[in-house]
Amino acid sequence: MEKNTAAAKAAEKFDALVTAQLERVERMKAQKDFVDYAALPTIIIGVCGGDGIGPVITDEAARVLEYQLRDEVKSGKVEFRRIDGLTIENRAAQGKAIPDDVLAALKECHVILKGPTTTPRAGDPWPNIESANVAMRRELDLFCNMRPVKVPEEGIDWTFFRENTEGSYAVGSMGVNVTDDLAIDFVVTTTQGTERIAKLAYDFAARNHKSRVSIITKANVVKTTDGKFLRLCQDVGRQYPDITTDDWYIDILTAKLIDPARRRDFQVLVLPNLYGDIITDEAAQFQGGVGTAGSANIGKRYAMFEAIHGSAPRMVSEGRAQYADPCSMLRAAVLLLSHIGYQEKADKLERALDICMYEEKKYTVTGRGTGCTCSAFGDYVMETIARL
Ligand code: IPM
Ligand code: MG
Repeated sequence: MEKNTAAAKAAEKFDALVTAQLERVERMKAQKDFVDYAALPTIIIGVCGGDGIGPVITDEAARVLEYQLRDEVKSGKVEFRRIDGLTIENRAAQGKAIPDDVLAALKECHVILKGPTTTPRAGDPWPNIESANVAMRRELDLFCNMRPVKVPEEGIDWTFFRENTEGSYAVGSMGVNVTDDLAIDFVVTTTQGTERIAKLAYDFAARNHKSRVSIITKANVVKTTDGKFLRLCQDVGRQYPDITTDDWYIDILTAKLIDPARRRDFQVLVLPNLYGDIITDEAAQFQGGVGTAGSANIGKRYAMFEAIHGSAPRMVSEGRAQYADPCSMLRAAVLLLSHIGYQEKADKLERALDICMYEEKKYTVTGRGTGCTCSAFGDYVMETIARL
């Protein structure tokens, strides 16, 4: 009897989740095309600092962007807007992943530069609210998480297209504790959600003269959702006859990325949310760690650019925040510039970062007093841009 009641209660929750996902499918079907930034009178760039070292590194990246876009700001084509309130203190006080006024302010922007935010988990001093990242990706429908990793001397040039709104994340904070002994989470794959990420990955490959797209799943075990993801990506791939498609299971891909004989063969990789989360941390380690990697969260109406690492609260509690490395946010700024149509400025910033981080290395950031400060590094990057 008790078993039936627990199962019935769980089924009721499942019913609500399914209904919400079916509504989401209808919203995706009705979605308009991508924003044409060139046609906008003003592109509004929201700057949202986040927690821990977030404000320090985000302000630094914004300072460099403001320097590069000074003429556009003067002419009114670009506007920077500071958005406060995405701090863990405010989110905890309001009991919301993104407080309502912050979400409203974000929705008035076109693109957002966002610092890392602390994600609470059970046992933390904070209420166990949903991740601000995950909520923002969902609320702004940022379905593509594009994460480039490059190590030129190793021949590594990978671009990951991580699906960003579905998979294990879609209803990640709405799993069900059926009884004290049984917990169930859900994985979601939709036709619309898969086709749009696959199309973006293949379009990127075609535009950037890449010859190969690899689809990464665990479709041999997670047959329904990963199976659908693989099949639909392959269908999209058939519309690009000049591009070779192959597919790999996530476990063997993880091994192949550290195989020097094979890893340089990968170019564009498209994969469900959780695998993309895990593998992009591994991939970033090749170019110097997550602190060096930026990411673009792209949707049709909004786009958000961020680091791939967390908020490093320990650096703040140890009084080292001013020594935080802004490179991840500066790499995110490269992606932002490119996304809104300033490719030449994006190339300049990328080139300056390569010079400052890997070639000239006049100043280095070490995260402590042994290196330069975040703002000294920002100055160095701007001086380098001016020399290009
Ligand atoms: C990332 C992060 C986030 C994620 C966390 C902070 C929720 O790890 O952007 O990769 O899991 O997506
Ligand atoms: Mg991650």
